[in-house]
Amino acid sequence: MTEQPTGHDAIDSFSNENRTFPPPAEFAAAARVSDGSLAAEADSDPEAFWARQARELIDWQVPFESVLSWDLPNARWFDGGRLNVAENCLDRHVRAGLGDRVAIHWEGEPGDTRTISYSDLLDEVSRFSNVLRSLGVGRGDRVNIYLPMIPEAAVAMLACARIGAVHSVVFGGFSSQSLIDRINDAEAKMLITADGGYRRGEVFPLKPAADEALGATPSIENVVVVRRGGNPVDMVEGRDHWYHDLMEGASVDCPPEPMESEDLLFLLYTSGTTGKPKGIMHTTAGYLTHVTYTHRYVFDLRPESDVYWCTADVGWITGHSYIVYGPLSNGCTQVMYEGVPNHPGNDRFWDIVERYGVTIFYTAPTAIRTFMKWGAEEPARHDLSSLRLLGTVGEPINPEAWMWYHEHIGGERCPIVDTWWQTETGGIMISPLPGSTTTKPGSATFPLPGVGMEVVDDEANRVEHGGGYLTLTRPWPGMLRGIWGDPERFRETYWSRFPGRYFAGDGARLDDDGYVWFLGRVDDVMNVSGHRISTTEVESALVSHPSVAEAAVVGASDATTGQAIFAYVIARGGAEVDVDALRAHVANEIGAIAKPKAIFVTPDLPKTRSGKIMRRLLRDVAEGRNLGDTTTLADASVVGELQRRASEASSED
Ligand code: WTA
Repeated sequence: MTEQPTGHDAIDSFSNENRTFPPPAEFAAAARVSDGSLAAEADSDPEAFWARQARELIDWQVPFESVLSWDLPNARWFDGGRLNVAENCLDRHVRAGLGDRVAIHWEGEPGDTRTISYSDLLDEVSRFSNVLRSLGVGRGDRVNIYLPMIPEAAVAMLACARIGAVHSVVFGGFSSQSLIDRINDAEAKMLITADGGYRRGEVFPLKPAADEALGATPSIENVVVVRRGGNPVDMVEGRDHWYHDLMEGASVDCPPEPMESEDLLFLLYTSGTTGKPKGIMHTTAGYLTHVTYTHRYVFDLRPESDVYWCTADVGWITGHSYIVYGPLSNGCTQVMYEGVPNHPGNDRFWDIVERYGVTIFYTAPTAIRTFMKWGAEEPARHDLSSLRLLGTVGEPINPEAWMWYHEHIGGERCPIVDTWWQTETGGIMISPLPGSTTTKPGSATFPLPGVGMEVVDDEANRVEHGGGYLTLTRPWPGMLRGIWGDPERFRETYWSRFPGRYFAGDGARLDDDGYVWFLGRVDDVMNVSGHRISTTEVESALVSHPSVAEAAVVGASDATTGQAIFAYVIARGGAEVDVDALRAHVANEIGAIAKPKAIFVTPDLPKTRSGKIMRRLLRDVAEGRNLGDTTTLADASVVGELQRRASEASSED
């Protein structure tokens, strides 16, 4: 913790927001939850409540014996139980006679489509499970997945789950260096990738990026390559195999491995406040219960009639929980789309909604702000009347974007669920229930039934009204079980700041009605287009360039992406800094999402007398704000110089 909550400006603007939206009567009348009974049940005995969800929503091979054992920070849920996640996502629906139901309406960016039923998906997953086994992958082995948004991404994840292997998905936009770090940290045995995928009308190469990594990842024994882009790739004899070749001879018979409740299901790396990403660990039964429950209740899901669409990438937690595991466990029909929202036109999403009759649409505030920029005429060209519920995730949504979403996408009839959660929480924690919660534009409203939440001040005192830090007061089934290989960091990061509580790293405010308003991160983690990026990680990428001696990075407000990355660098003695080359270098080290929007070359950085970089000042400079008191600075003239350079740079834009 280096600073106070950064959202102090947000408090003022949000406090004026007092429009309220009760659930439409027609929606409430048909909703899964239309009163406070679920919350009352959960409040009276949270463990019994979660146990009921686990029994009712999940199929067990062997029932669990205990609900929770809690020895802070280590939780165990549903011990004694045996189950298989892939069986819950596939076999049980086929057994129930729903094999012909569409699991995935997939659409490629160029317009090609695939319709995959639950039986199709079960066959494909079973065959690929046998492929994995034939290549020596078994229970507990780590498998890296580096794929575009194609159905094989879901197939690969579910096949791992079926045989008890642990997947670690790396977002396809990450660089080969990021892939190296993640493969090596997990000591993955296999890499599953594709030749390339489609993005903005072109093929972006993945296998060539993987090849760059593979020289530095000694644990990888085999590489499976899905053909998608058709771009030329090199295949190394004995190590690299085409997916379609392996699948050709594979048997569809692969009984699901009986897994223990607390067996590791997956690792997903996320940025923390240091340069090293954390391998967040999620296990089997608690995670599955949490995502199945939240997907069903938060989205008021009717698996027999809904067409659900989440626009996230499977490389992020949202893709894991609300494209793969939650929706498939609930047996619903969903749309999966490969590409960008503006190819071939700015109305691609609305075209998809109309053609597939999407009823539930879940996206990120940054996307909504982009749609606002493109104009309401884009959605207006399409019939969006199939929509009945909208959701957002990833960052606070500003009331203006909420209202635009409500009017122009939801036709003023769809409730909006603003869902707060994290890679670490596994599933949604704070959100309206659309049939019973009166929403306010910009507020995630209340914790879900079963979730314990409190806002606290610096001394860990509970705050009833006003701002503070968001904490979770008791364990929940989907919670992370640790950081891969680093139990101390797990305790330190989440459980030490406020004794007995999980500290999320977010600032939050409670209004007079007890509604939660998120104020952004309070640590050195930026949120760019809903993606977490650590300032330290970008700083270390910058100083790894030979022209840079020192670097400081801040996330400054940006009208579209939420935050944008601003970097300040000091040149290494005598070196010329080429700003474009440096931006490309960061993209190469981490990925294009971490590319700074602006880089300022400066002779010095504002530091406190103890030598700490004053990020707040840098953020003020980046946001063009008047600087307050700079008397704690070692050298106040640095700031004047920085401001001059920043205003010069912005007038050049
Ligand atoms: C932010 C994404 C406000 C928050 C699922 C959190 C949000 C971080 C919301 C987790 C929301 C996510 N309102 N802020 N509805 N949803 N956040 O791990 O700062 O990629 O700590 O998980 O995103 O990001 P992550």
